[in-house]
Amino acid sequence: MALALLLAAILGLLIVKSVLLQLRNPSSPPCIGSWIPWFGAAFQFGKAPLEFIEQARSKYGPIFTVLALGKRFTFVTDEEGAEAFFTSKDLNFEQAVQQAVQNAVSVPAEDFYQNHGNLYTMMKGKMGPSNLHLFVDTLCKELHEHMGHLGTKGTGDLNDLVRHVMYPAVVNTLFGKGICPTSRSEIKEFEEHFQKYDEDFEYASQMPECFLRNWSKSKKWLLKLFEKVVSDAEKTNPSETTSKTLLQHLLDNLQGRHLAPSYGLLMLWASQANAVPIAFWTLVFILSNPSIYKKIMEDLASVFGKAGRDKIEVSGEDLKKLPFIKWCTLEAIRLRSPGAITKKVVNPIRIQNFTVPAGDMLMLSPYWLHRNPKYFPDPEMFKPDRWKEANLEKNAFLDSFVAFGGGKHQCPGRWFAIMEIQLFIVLFLYKYEFVLLDSVPKESPLHLVGTQQPMAPFRVQYKYRE
Ligand code: HEM
Repeated sequence: MALALLLAAILGLLIVKSVLLQLRNPSSPPCIGSWIPWFGAAFQFGKAPLEFIEQARSKYGPIFTVLALGKRFTFVTDEEGAEAFFTSKDLNFEQAVQQAVQNAVSVPAEDFYQNHGNLYTMMKGKMGPSNLHLFVDTLCKELHEHMGHLGTKGTGDLNDLVRHVMYPAVVNTLFGKGICPTSRSEIKEFEEHFQKYDEDFEYASQMPECFLRNWSKSKKWLLKLFEKVVSDAEKTNPSETTSKTLLQHLLDNLQGRHLAPSYGLLMLWASQANAVPIAFWTLVFILSNPSIYKKIMEDLASVFGKAGRDKIEVSGEDLKKLPFIKWCTLEAIRLRSPGAITKKVVNPIRIQNFTVPAGDMLMLSPYWLHRNPKYFPDPEMFKPDRWKEANLEKNAFLDSFVAFGGGKHQCPGRWFAIMEIQLFIVLFLYKYEFVLLDSVPKESPLHLVGTQQPMAPFRVQYKYRE
């Protein structure tokens, strides 16, 4: 009886707290919650977060707060909000992602804050436009090798085909050949664990590991693998800077040797999770648009001669002669960009007529910003030509393109990502021709973190060109 009373009292308190949280201070943004304590609007929100954002925006206006899982998430969906998001000193990137990093790879807060700045600067430098040429040769050889494993013809889900080629090729390029498992038999187990890890990464970064048993198993498997990966990379770490892999640079810059497997896994995830789906979508958009496909095949023929099965060697200079494929890649990134990126409000911040309180997570949706017709006319259309206007030679994107974030925390791997996808498309389309067996899938509305996943399989028949 006493226990029941105590539980009722606790529940009552939680309900009062949740009602109080929702009582709106007139200067704070409209707030979406529910009567369920702590969970708030988590159920409605979690069902289809991308759609939820758009519906909330049309109902409540460009700034609104969602209460979920005991936290306040404030979304900014217009230009003024975006400007504040990227420039305000009252917002903090590290504090927004620290807990997610701790959940995802078990790096304690103190170590995260100590290492973050250094590692970011290292990655930005090593993967910057002036160093990209150092990766092209190796990546080209690796892509050829792993495409070879697809055989001369076959049928399969295009997403799987892309993964089978991209995972091992990129891992070997960034981490060093033979360091991560890349033989056909070993890679299967690795792929299964990595896929599980990636699939639930979004939830795992927000909640305790004990709620996600399979995810936790895969995380442990991958961290164990990385103990060996790190020890092998240490043994072979050359003194010459230009001969080091990205992983070896990471080891040189990391404070706390015991954290190396965690950071290795984090780097692996960052390098694959967004780029591999975009390689898939770029192919889908190209293959399902006959005029775009035709133009690409003409471009390839003008640089390498008539497409066929031989292994072409592609250089950085060759890629520069193929701007249209780069535009296709950027257009696929625009249309399938991350559902949301986050910063923590550390001091109350004024946006439009609202004051967003300290402690809120401020959320910006590249996916929805990229659908603003003012910046991207016919926003739902795949129009690579719109990228003609971007000053890509000067490494500038189109205005309002924020798929890689913005300001001083932009994705350090962005130039590598664009190059690797462009190179993959060149080699794949040069070597294979395709018959599409399914209609083009929509993007799944389930994901907020990272680039979008397809909602259904997209099977293709492929065979070597004659
Ligand atoms: C199309 C592919 C990619 C997209 C759309 C993408 C997008 C992003 C975004 C939105 C962020 C967060 C920025 C912010 O919140 O302000 C980020 C961070 C990051 N990305 Fe990427 N990324 C891609 C590919 C890559 C690749 C290939 C690598 C590495 C090889 C990489 C490494 C990283 C790292 C290490 C961070 C964390 C930066 C930090 O802690 O400050 N990304 N990326």
